[in-house]
Amino acid sequence: MPFQNTLSFARELDRIDPLQKFRDRFYFPQLNGKNVIYFTGNSLGLQPKNAKDFVDEVMEDWKNLAVEGHFHSKKPWWDYHERLAKPLAKIIGAKPGEVSVMNTLTVNLHLLMVSFYRPSKKRYKILCEEKAFPSDQYMLQSQVRFHGFDPKDAIVEVAKRPGQHHWHTNDIIEKINELGDELALVMLGGVNYYNGQVFDMKAITGAGKSVDAMVGWDLAHAAGNIELKLHDWNCDFAAWCSYKYMNSGPGNASGIFIHEKHLGQDNIPRFEGWWGTSKETRFLMKQEFEPIATADAWQLSNPPVLALAPYLASLELFEEVGMEALIEKREKIVSYLEFILHEIDSEVDSSFEIITPAERGCQLSVLLHGEGRSLFEYLMANGVITDWREPNVIRLAPAPFYCSFEDMYNFGQVLKRGILGRT
Ligand SMILES: Cc1ncc(COP(=O)(O)O)c(C=O)c1O
Repeated sequence: MPFQNTLSFARELDRIDPLQKFRDRFYFPQLNGKNVIYFTGNSLGLQPKNAKDFVDEVMEDWKNLAVEGHFHSKKPWWDYHERLAKPLAKIIGAKPGEVSVMNTLTVNLHLLMVSFYRPSKKRYKILCEEKAFPSDQYMLQSQVRFHGFDPKDAIVEVAKRPGQHHWHTNDIIEKINELGDELALVMLGGVNYYNGQVFDMKAITGAGKSVDAMVGWDLAHAAGNIELKLHDWNCDFAAWCSYKYMNSGPGNASGIFIHEKHLGQDNIPRFEGWWGTSKETRFLMKQEFEPIATADAWQLSNPPVLALAPYLASLELFEEVGMEALIEKREKIVSYLEFILHEIDSEVDSSFEIITPAERGCQLSVLLHGEGRSLFEYLMANGVITDWREPNVIRLAPAPFYCSFEDMYNFGQVLKRGILGRT
């Protein structure tokens, strides 16, 4: 059915939306007693209403049981993290044993590089996208330096074509083939944080493996957003944060994926700690490390239970709704937002350019030609929570879990007023 830029049409889309009921399962910031229009689920997801109960349960158990809570609380703390592996495996397309939850994203990428970036004199190069998320750039540079190489030589960035805002898969694959046996690692973001592009992870992983490189993914903007089949695609490793589309809370724990072909190996280089050693013998306090046969072997410390509690709460919602339904709504709501942007563009003098290519998830990155930061500030002051990236890009990510079609319509109206009525 062709879209219409009317309130009644948007409300009709909400009425027939099978996910509409989930909106009420999240807390929205308020402005003048009304929910804001929340476009920054790609940065920090909203708080699920069940999160507090999960945290309160841990607080109560701690109050009443103290140390006994490790083994005797309702959800014992010593293996609390294991509850997250199964639902996460479904979200990222993995086997539960290939998933663990620990630390934070950049920390985990470093730990995974210890295992999967093992440069030699000949094979030491890393391929990534140009202007990758800064933390990834710092992580890669410091890893390369740590191994005695020069980042300028060892890190090869794939550029966008002149005048274009997105990457071409062919350019990435050509570069992989060109580097061939010099290439130690392919490491990209599954969804680029700036332009929202979804990379062809299957094709890029296949190309990396065909030259015997390791292939790892930063899935910060992909987990809980797009369809992932990490196991089937034969990715070597991946990590993601949980506070964006996964709604687990600020700065919360990261997940890791390690393909099962790398599990259960005695000689894999890895930084180790007591939570990675066999559960059966851990408390014998032995000197020898006996790696757990799953990705949990990479765990160093006992789980941060208070952090994992809201993450588990959020995963309960993911279990209830399922990625398939989220993706179906995501496609519709993002298309509706795109339509609204074009409609408003035709009504005002400015011009918007959506720099996100057709391969996209939740996020549309919009270049505001002729508009400055003051438009962004107007949006924020008028109940549209979005973000600004220099020089003049706003990122709009209507998370399908809780955003409504009416939000998209209302956003268009605020945007129009902002452009026409701002002084
Ligand atoms: C693509 C990407 N990589 C890495 C990070 C860093 O995450 P953390 O601060 O949890 O290490 C972020 C954070 O937003 C990100 O978006």
